[in-house]
Amino acid sequence: MRQNLVAMRDQALNELEALATLEAVNLFRIKYLGKKGELTQVLRGMGQLSETERPVIGQIANEIRDELEQRIKLRQEVIRRQEVEQRLASEVFDITLPGKPFLLGHKHPLTQIIDKIRDIFMGMGYSVAEGPEIELDYYNFEALNLPKDHPARDMQDSFYITEEVLLRTHTSPVQVRTMEEMVPEIPIRIICPGKVYRRDDDATHSPMFHQVEGLVIDENITMSDLKGTLLTFAQEMFGRERQIRLRPSYFPFTEPSAEVDISCIMCSGDGCRVCSGSGWLEILGCGMVHPKVLANVGYDPEKVRGFAFGMGVERVAMLKYRIDDMRLLFENDLRFLNQF
Ligand code: PHE
Repeated sequence: MRQNLVAMRDQALNELEALATLEAVNLFRIKYLGKKGELTQVLRGMGQLSETERPVIGQIANEIRDELEQRIKLRQEVIRRQEVEQRLASEVFDITLPGKPFLLGHKHPLTQIIDKIRDIFMGMGYSVAEGPEIELDYYNFEALNLPKDHPARDMQDSFYITEEVLLRTHTSPVQVRTMEEMVPEIPIRIICPGKVYRRDDDATHSPMFHQVEGLVIDENITMSDLKGTLLTFAQEMFGRERQIRLRPSYFPFTEPSAEVDISCIMCSGDGCRVCSGSGWLEILGCGMVHPKVLANVGYDPEKVRGFAFGMGVERVAMLKYRIDDMRLLFENDLRFLNQF
């Protein structure tokens, strides 16, 4: 019995070494170790052995089974490695083939516009300030001379988190935060690009949009500084031939206040569909910082003054790129974005 077992083992190992495919190894396993396999049969027949023979033969059979299992694993490893080597050897690489082109992304059109606005103002000596998008009612309204129940709050209906905390409706609170930090230093010359939120949603309004705020505080700042600054901006952004005009307007935090138009980028003032025949396009709001706002943050309105402006980035982008629906800017459709 013992000799038979050892002979079976030698025979099996010889067979195994000659096998060249994983399927053959599988069949081999079934032949010896499967339910009806040769070695399994031996183990099953153990009951007929005598008391003394049983443990001896049992141990040998178990050892042989373990050995076969191990050798099967090794054989499978060797075959797998051989298969990989064969494939590598037979595959031909043509290193002169052109590579697969990959897509190079680019900045979103709004980011491009913000970068351009930033470049223009940095060229005039401005630095960039930032403020939180979740803002206190105090900074968004109160300190800007918009007390609770002020009717001008209606122009900027907001998303409230609590009664005193809201998503900022404009970037003007950054004016207040910057002045608070700087007082009593002068000059201040900052712009602040950022996201703002209002309860609006149609082809020309989005509940989230972008503004760039500007603020200058110094001695002897006048409205003509404001106008010259905005003319320079309009010409750098929309072309040397652009003109601007200031229309009287109202903001609680500037006095006097103005709405600024640029001469129409399509018809240069003759009147067309884009400017609804007026020859002008509105791009921003501005004015001289209200003395009350200066006083709120601790500047002496008798000694310093300044101007502020706030423009809508989407509006600038839509004019510059002739986009007629603001929602296109937020849909992330590559057919649209790839045009810029
Ligand atoms: N914050 C104003 C708005 O969002 C714009 C503005 C900014 C007006 C600065 C005057 C001065 O409508």
